[in-house]
Amino acid sequence: MAQELIFLCSNCGSEHSKWSGRCSVCGEWNTLRETAVLLGRDKKSSGRNNVGEKRVIQTLDKVSYQKTERFPVEIFEIDRVLGQGIVPGAVILLAGDPGIGKSTLLMEIARKIPETVLYISGEESASQIKLRTERMKINSPKINLLEETNLDLIIEAIGGLKPKLAIIDSIQTVYDPHFPSTPGSLVQVRESALRLQQIAKESHLPIILVSHVTKEGTVAGPKTLEHLVDVVLYLEGDDFHGTRILRGSKNRFGPTDEIGIFLMKENGFKAIENPSEIFLGERLAGVSGSVVTATLEGNRPILLEIQALTSPTIFGYPKRTASGFELSRLDLLLAILQKRSGVNLASQDVYVNVVGGFKLKEPAVDLAVTLSLTSAFKNKKIDSDWCVFGEIGLSGEIRKVKMHDKRENEAKRLGFKNFIKSKILEKAIREVME
Ligand code: TYD
Ligand code: MG
Repeated sequence: MAQELIFLCSNCGSEHSKWSGRCSVCGEWNTLRETAVLLGRDKKSSGRNNVGEKRVIQTLDKVSYQKTERFPVEIFEIDRVLGQGIVPGAVILLAGDPGIGKSTLLMEIARKIPETVLYISGEESASQIKLRTERMKINSPKINLLEETNLDLIIEAIGGLKPKLAIIDSIQTVYDPHFPSTPGSLVQVRESALRLQQIAKESHLPIILVSHVTKEGTVAGPKTLEHLVDVVLYLEGDDFHGTRILRGSKNRFGPTDEIGIFLMKENGFKAIENPSEIFLGERLAGVSGSVVTATLEGNRPILLEIQALTSPTIFGYPKRTASGFELSRLDLLLAILQKRSGVNLASQDVYVNVVGGFKLKEPAVDLAVTLSLTSAFKNKKIDSDWCVFGEIGLSGEIRKVKMHDKRENEAKRLGFKNFIKSKILEKAIREVME
């Protein structure tokens, strides 16, 4: 195949037709490297804008489209995040910290696909993978393993086997031999992903790329790839509870606000379809500083315990610590508590914890956080059949939250009977603590 010479920046991956001492895109010095690439390769990721193809203007009502066909993984928690399954030709990025369970989750997916799956591993040997699958009790002849990092050979293998799904674990170990840079570098990660994207589109093959979230620097992380792929999933978790949350952050074919919740067990992932029951399971009823709230993940209400602790500040400046909740929001709620309801925590160290490893962002949990703080400070327990939710405004008013009834119904289902009726924080405090 004919080749052309271009200059690639080893720092930012940009292409230049001429050498220069400084990259005009990122401004780094001495980073342009002469590189041979295939002539006429498609630089665009989508492959939609083929030059030379005639385009016609159409009115919206005449545009025909095909409903995207997809095949479900048959693991409800994963299908929910994907939007009812995997779309053929989609490139899916699965990102997460090393050791969080990406490879294990992918094996769970591979187990469920009734047709040929090609699992390409650049990180672990086939025997290491076999050890994992022994542990997970997977022994399917449909799952094909390939230890390979050379992109040309990977593409050849995909073409030969024609699997229903290809998994590449991880994209940071793959290298395109047409480029001089090392695997994991920005250029390699980007160019490999582009070529795989093309393969996926041409052959209607879904490809899952694994990517490690890395600290700044040596290895190109998922951010490099987010705009090149169709779906971006993050696997997050809390090691103390073994909970794992699969979160969609981009999805061309489905929702981005749904999450899948799992427990990492000795023998693989266990999907949790009733998270509230699990997360409330270890709650100590009748302790001050603890309250249950109903938060919303996608369309699903999840009941969680919020815990707070206060203790007098010993050295001058009071400490504020929050796990699973934003510190700036906590500061705001403390100010509202002091100003609007006379609960003064200015000389108290404050700790807030969301149980279960969740990171709560929605303001609907404000009320639960403020009430748990007040309960801890006053050392008065909140009866265990209360479930509280509501956004708190700067005037100390309690605002309605979205899908109020859905949250309340889930709470009722789990036996909670008491809900805040007051519209003002000060009154709500009296309502629950008297
Ligand atoms: P792994 O899937 O290899 O993580 P990643 O691919 O994201 O780097 O999982 C690594 C951890 O998971 C390891 O500490 C062992 C643990 N583990 C379980 O707890 N249960 C299991 O069934 C398996 C296979 C692994
Ligand atoms: Mg792995």
